[in-house]
Amino acid sequence: MVSRTDFYYFSPTGGTKKAGEAFCKAISVEVKEHNLGIRGKETADPTGDLAVFAAPVFGGRIPALVSEKIKALEGSGKKAVTFVVYGTRAYEDALLELNQAVSHQGFQIAASGACIAQHSMAPEVGKGRPDEKDVSEITGFAKQVESKLDNCIRTGVTVPGNQPYKEAMTIPAPPISLESCSLCGKCEEVCPTAAITVNEGHIATDPNTCILCMACTAVCPNQSRILPPPLQERMEQMLGALKDVRRENEYFTL
Ligand SMILES: Cc1cc2nc3c(=O)[nH]c(=O)nc-3n(C[C@H](O)[C@H](O)[C@H](O)COP(=O)(O)O)c2cc1C
Repeated sequence: MVSRTDFYYFSPTGGTKKAGEAFCKAISVEVKEHNLGIRGKETADPTGDLAVFAAPVFGGRIPALVSEKIKALEGSGKKAVTFVVYGTRAYEDALLELNQAVSHQGFQIAASGACIAQHSMAPEVGKGRPDEKDVSEITGFAKQVESKLDNCIRTGVTVPGNQPYKEAMTIPAPPISLESCSLCGKCEEVCPTAAITVNEGHIATDPNTCILCMACTAVCPNQSRILPPPLQERMEQMLGALKDVRRENEYFTL
């Protein structure tokens, strides 16, 4: 086992964290978590023997805030394992983008994965994933990576993706708050980009700052925070065909 792993993740609705954590727990005695979604918090350099990065896929890319936070890190030749986590549709250029960002900071990437989680905008797609089977598979992958870590060479893994990357997705509309909203402020607290403010009697969301990560909808204690219904319908239409698809996780090693 690796004695200590630094686990860097952004996981607005929990799927990315679950997949990355399964790997970290299987490969390491101790795991130090670095939540990249916490506003204003400086990201600390790794102090363990391995760094694990996990990012969700948004429009075939990784969220810009993940790239920005990675830029603050000093890899110093440390070994890293990277994951993108996506909602069954496709991960396109996201894993390549993550690996290039991580390598650029001086990490050596020993292995990568593209794993499935429930789609945060269409929860019927990949419902309940990562599930027990995923976790047990990711655990097996961790054991395989562990046995190869010492022989890891400098070149890094080859993963799918194109450059220039796909254009970053545009945000059609931010989530809205229903009348049942109790103004508890949890959405404001959890928003990674400070797009939400609780103003006298109502919730205001800045459409230019919102990245549509869905953290606010997931944290709402009474389901009062939702996607605007026309957007929700559009997403379900677009992704509906994937409801019965069980996409498999993919793993890449040296
Ligand atoms: C704005 C947005 C864009 C997304 N784009 C994609 C995509 O391009 N391909 C895909 O398969 N899933 C996509 N998803 C689904 C997420 O990648 C998936 O639900 C992921 O697990 C979210 O991570 P989290 O559970 O850690 O929040 C998207 C979700 C959101 C909110």
